[in-house]
Amino acid sequence: MKIVVTGGAGFIGSHLCERLISEGHSVTTIDDLTTGSISNLANLEGNKDFNLVVGSILDSDGLHSLIQNVDYVFHLAAAVGVFNIVNNPLASMLTNIRGTENVLEAANASKIPVFLASSSEVYGKNTSDSLKESDDRILGSPVKLRWSYSEAKAIDESLAYAYHVEKKLETRIVRFFNTVGPRQLGAYGMVVPRFVKAALTNEPITIYGNGNQTRCFGHIYDVIDAVMAVAFADNTVGKVINIGNNSEISMNGLAQKIIKETGSSSDIVYVPYEEAYGQGFEDMERRVPNIDLINELVGWTPKRDLSTIIADISAEMKRLA
Ligand SMILES: NC(=O)c1ccc[n+]([C@@H]2O[C@H](COP(=O)([O-])OP(=O)(O)OC[C@H]3O[C@@H](n4cnc5c(N)ncnc54)[C@H](O)[C@@H]3O)[C@@H](O)[C@H]2O)c1
Repeated sequence: MKIVVTGGAGFIGSHLCERLISEGHSVTTIDDLTTGSISNLANLEGNKDFNLVVGSILDSDGLHSLIQNVDYVFHLAAAVGVFNIVNNPLASMLTNIRGTENVLEAANASKIPVFLASSSEVYGKNTSDSLKESDDRILGSPVKLRWSYSEAKAIDESLAYAYHVEKKLETRIVRFFNTVGPRQLGAYGMVVPRFVKAALTNEPITIYGNGNQTRCFGHIYDVIDAVMAVAFADNTVGKVINIGNNSEISMNGLAQKIIKETGSSSDIVYVPYEEAYGQGFEDMERRVPNIDLINELVGWTPKRDLSTIIADISAEMKRLA
């Protein structure tokens, strides 16, 4: 297939481009390199089946000419990361709402199937044991800008779904839960690379809040397996599907595990949320995916555990140090 990936120089996008190429597809990616980087694409340099267009999904004309005569579009480009969203709310919303609208419009013009990357952030503060795709969203006030990412992703989902229902566009929507692994940057507030980096240099590991909040982490290679399975199955069209690992750990537990498994002498220090993210910041206590639907539809379950994630991230950081 001829495939367009938006955000292909990013963390998930670059792994996806590699996988698509390895399966014989030809891939063009558009990325403005805001959080992505050319170094993420080093393995694809010079590959005749791969093409990088440095540009923005906010350039609607550019997108229309790119998304023509192709067979499939993966839409991953987005403004991401809590720090980034809180500090650049306008630019983030523009990218995450108008950018997605542009991609859907261009794909619909030629009726090209779209795979949309949404986020577990749409569930907001819903802390149920096991979040199902049909569960309610529980959000704070719209003027708490942290929730603007959740709102933008929810609008994206509604837009994609409306294109499917009204215009018969083939869309698939996935909600990624925390995905981690090699190439992910700690600079945008991503917790696992941030903790591993501190542990490897024996610097203090900083936990925001009291550390009792829990998260679940999926290995990037498992997530790419899930993406491929969902993207090319017939029974996933028009659906919203969680992708994540449902094994849960507190931030205190995560810091201790990373210290132990990297043989670090780092201390753990605590910083109030307000100091890290500004006054009135709200976070969720836990977020656990229910992954029954993806298992039922395409037979996917995660295979790699948190120790593998920590080992893979540490190995990459040591290699690049
Ligand atoms: N990593 C996760 O845990 C996670 C969780 C939930 C959802 N997601 C979603 O998955 C997708 C990929 O995320 P990621 O973790 O790889 O982040 P990333 O920041 O590494 O990738 C996003 C890419 O989009 C590019 N981009 C940003 N604005 C753009 C624009 N206007 N035009 C073109 N390119 C632009 C960035 O340069 C970057 O390469 C995003 O849609 C994100 O919301 C990721």
